Amino acid sequence: MKNRITKAVFPVAGLGTRFLPATKSIPKELLPLVDRPLVQYAVDEAREAGIESFLFVSARGKTAMADYFDKHPSLEHRLSKDGKDDLLSKLQNSNIASGDIAYVRQGEPLGLGHAVACARQFVDHDEYFAVILPDDVIKGKPGCLRQMVDAWHERPANYVGTMQVEPDQISSYGILDVASEAGRRIKARGLVEKPSVDEAPSNNAVIGRYLLSPNIMHRLVKTVPGFGGEIQLTDAINAEAASPEGVYGYRFDAQRYDCGSMAGFLKATIDFGLDRPELRDELMDYMRTILDSAK
Ligand code: G1P
Repeated sequence: MKNRITKAVFPVAGLGTRFLPATKSIPKELLPLVDRPLVQYAVDEAREAGIESFLFVSARGKTAMADYFDKHPSLEHRLSKDGKDDLLSKLQNSNIASGDIAYVRQGEPLGLGHAVACARQFVDHDEYFAVILPDDVIKGKPGCLRQMVDAWHERPANYVGTMQVEPDQISSYGILDVASEAGRRIKARGLVEKPSVDEAPSNNAVIGRYLLSPNIMHRLVKTVPGFGGEIQLTDAINAEAASPEGVYGYRFDAQRYDCGSMAGFLKATIDFGLDRPELRDELMDYMRTILDSAK
């Protein structure tokens, strides 16, 4: 097995119906948090973790994403000529070099597990790979994926990012059946996709960061539809729990935003705005005014 993880799969085939009508013509992943599209946060986090090859599992109507990551020579030339170096470097940071990026399409919405399996030609038989769900925006230093890759280097295994959720949230997530815990690592006996609160084996939820053994690809191809009639990534990972490598939850040290929901997206927008020194004071003043007038 290779001793590095250099490939990441980004499932981005969803219709983004919660964000209609914006997503009628703009892929959800390109909606901006302040001035960077959602998907850029995922790519930056992946790069920080050592990812060198990026595979997007996309769908019909989402070609704007391929344009987004492409080099834009005329605009770069223009900014360079005008001496706008800051903008130029922001722009260049959004490029992914040809050859390091690839797209496949998920022809039908058959589930997250099916989407990841669409990337099977991209992953070799002797390498672990990462999966990043861009809807889960995670702010941390180092980033969540870097933390997980460090844990993987200490002990290679399947890892899922995890955090504890409130009881009323349990049925929205994959949930870990905990065998034992040591520090930030939770050894899983298994995983259940979206159980009811009564049936849930714990409140440790799977968040959209995964480091997976290539076996998962073989399993996914054979995985039958599960929760919601969809092919679930959770079910394939669950089947790996009994493998010699096993499955671990990694309780990351970072703030996660559920940008698949409108409220989560707005919270992230506020927080990322406040992180910007040039916006912070004005935003804080504005929020104080709002809070005062609501008293
Ligand atoms: C997916 C996974 C689920 C996981 C969640 C994290 O669900 O199926 O196991 O907990 O992402 O965000 P979705 O949010 O796509 O319904």
